[in-house]
Amino acid sequence: MRFTSTVLAVAAAILVPATMVVAQDPNNCNTEEKKRDGADFVLTEQKAYDLSKLSSYFSSNGKKVKVSDVFEDGNHKMTEDGLGHRIWERTPDYDDLTTEKWIPQGITTTADALDTGIYEGKDGFLVSWHRDDDSAVRVTFVNKGDNTYRHALLVQPDGTDNFKNVPIHAGGILWYGSTLWVVDTSNGLRVFDMSNIWQVGSGDGVGKTSSGGYSAAGYKYVIPQLRSYKWTSSFPFRFSFVSLDRTSTPDSILVGEYQRDSDTAPVRMVQWNINATDRRLRDLDSQGRAKGIWAYCVNIDRMQGAVQANKKIYITRDNINDPGDMFGWIPGQIAYQNRYFTTEKPEDLSYDKRGPWLYTVTELAGRRYISTFDPAQVKFS
Ligand SMILES: *[C@@H]1O[C@H](CO)[C@@H](O)[C@H](O)[C@H]1NC(C)=O
Repeated sequence: MRFTSTVLAVAAAILVPATMVVAQDPNNCNTEEKKRDGADFVLTEQKAYDLSKLSSYFSSNGKKVKVSDVFEDGNHKMTEDGLGHRIWERTPDYDDLTTEKWIPQGITTTADALDTGIYEGKDGFLVSWHRDDDSAVRVTFVNKGDNTYRHALLVQPDGTDNFKNVPIHAGGILWYGSTLWVVDTSNGLRVFDMSNIWQVGSGDGVGKTSSGGYSAAGYKYVIPQLRSYKWTSSFPFRFSFVSLDRTSTPDSILVGEYQRDSDTAPVRMVQWNINATDRRLRDLDSQGRAKGIWAYCVNIDRMQGAVQANKKIYITRDNINDPGDMFGWIPGQIAYQNRYFTTEKPEDLSYDKRGPWLYTVTELAGRRYISTFDPAQVKFS
């Protein structure tokens, strides 16, 4: 009866008038007052990496490529089942559908990147995967038109002329202009540079090779980290998923925490404003700090993704080996549980106002999809 208590908790959460909320322990979601003040949630922008040397190396060798080049260079293909699912490739010698080595986690699209939904003439998805040992992160460029795709490796600079793997459990991702934002569990957010995609040579290593070139564990393209936003509040927060709201003014991002049923830690969501001009968090103070604009204790266990559009929040919940739920929640009201709305193990969410469409990725081996939904199918009460 976990569900009953969850809904009651959410109901209790929204009955607290915002005006009653003064400084309180943001760690504690188990009191009468569930609502938190966004300003308690602080991210601090870190000094950007200097990518200029690497960038000019690849540029002068004709190996600095565009997003559209990667979308046009698909070497695998998803299939569609007519039920709104794109299915990862599985052939006798290739397997993204059931491999345990890489697990899909995050989704974003060209409609997050730019308001028109089209980026360098392309319409597509980006999907993040975490490696079984969390020693590397890859992202997949999926061409929406023909379902061809290619994986690329995320890397972090190592000095000014080398790079290495990104050793994190990548979860949700969000593409905004030329920046790609990736959650870094307890540390905050890492931002990668989509205007610096580099084509490398063959080789198993990641970074400089003995012959003077570069390789990336067999991947043809790498995307380097540009900067990060470090979690600097005094209490822990888990960066599990992230999404963009292009219907808010200004644009904003939403980050949420995944917790298991057995976890006693709070289950929260926070929003920060994001700057459409420089693609950084907005309203940074002189020390580079950005305060959240909204935070909430949500108390839905096993949340795997959330996205806000038009003041409505869509939330995926993984039900272990059962189909996943989609909650429809308008803050101030009781969240509605759309039971078994998705297939098993839904993850991150992304909203595309062109359809409108709602996208998620599912991670259960054998049933790993990019799933597309009509947001109007999600009930809110
Ligand atoms: C948005 O970015 C521009 C360019 O860096 C900057 O001048 C402006 O102050 C930023 N706006 C806010 C509200 O942070």
